[in-house]
Amino acid sequence: MKTEVRRFPDLSELSKAAAEFITNLINTTLEDKDFFSLVLSGGNTPRRLYEILAAAPLADRVPWSRVHLFWGDERCVAQDHPDSNFKMANELLISKVALPQDNVHRIAVETGPPDEVARAYEQVLKRFFGGGSPNFDLVLLGMGKDGHTASLFPKDSVLLEQVKNVAAVYPTAASVAVPRITITFPAINRAACAMFLVSGKDKHAVFKAIIGRADRAGPTYPAALVEPREKLIWFVEDFD
Ligand code: 6PG
Repeated sequence: MKTEVRRFPDLSELSKAAAEFITNLINTTLEDKDFFSLVLSGGNTPRRLYEILAAAPLADRVPWSRVHLFWGDERCVAQDHPDSNFKMANELLISKVALPQDNVHRIAVETGPPDEVARAYEQVLKRFFGGGSPNFDLVLLGMGKDGHTASLFPKDSVLLEQVKNVAAVYPTAASVAVPRITITFPAINRAACAMFLVSGKDKHAVFKAIIGRADRAGPTYPAALVEPREKLIWFVEDFD
């Protein structure tokens, strides 16, 4: 796995570069494949990125009919709740581009208790990837100031999951402390590429600890455990 760090003066420049990277990766990948599987992240950081991807010129460069969207995690709230990761992506991106509805693989949190929803999403992934394990083309990730990513929080036993690709978690320290559905490291690390968007001075020390650590293991910072098959890129706001 190759790791690359790209530094930017602010979130706006970071988002533009990330959108350009994603657009180029989609087009390069689709030279050899029929579809591109993209895992979206939640939270606030990717908002500007989604807006840029949804507007000209980049929106016109993406063959949306061959892009399939998934979520790295979702809060167990109604689809129209302000904390819904789907709501945010739908408003800023999905509703603005010519993406077929069948290409949107939402985590349907309203269909049952969290554990059942996790099992159902596992089946969504299994069906999409022809009965096998998911191997996403790109997983987009954010990071919290505690080093969590997706809804994989420090010291949670889900960090040790080796088999399931999707899990229900009940974080108490999260900014949005509701039950959540998250993809796990088996799903993240089988992806070809993962990219972090990290903005905010309050995350910079954790970012430097992760990049600087030799071992990169340990449940201290779950983001340190992201190791996709081919490429890991950090898009970070620079505070050095
Ligand atoms: C979520 C996210 C989560 C997020 C980080 C960073 O659903 O909360 O998937 O992992 O990426 O918490 O959030 P911000 O971008 O809002 O700082």
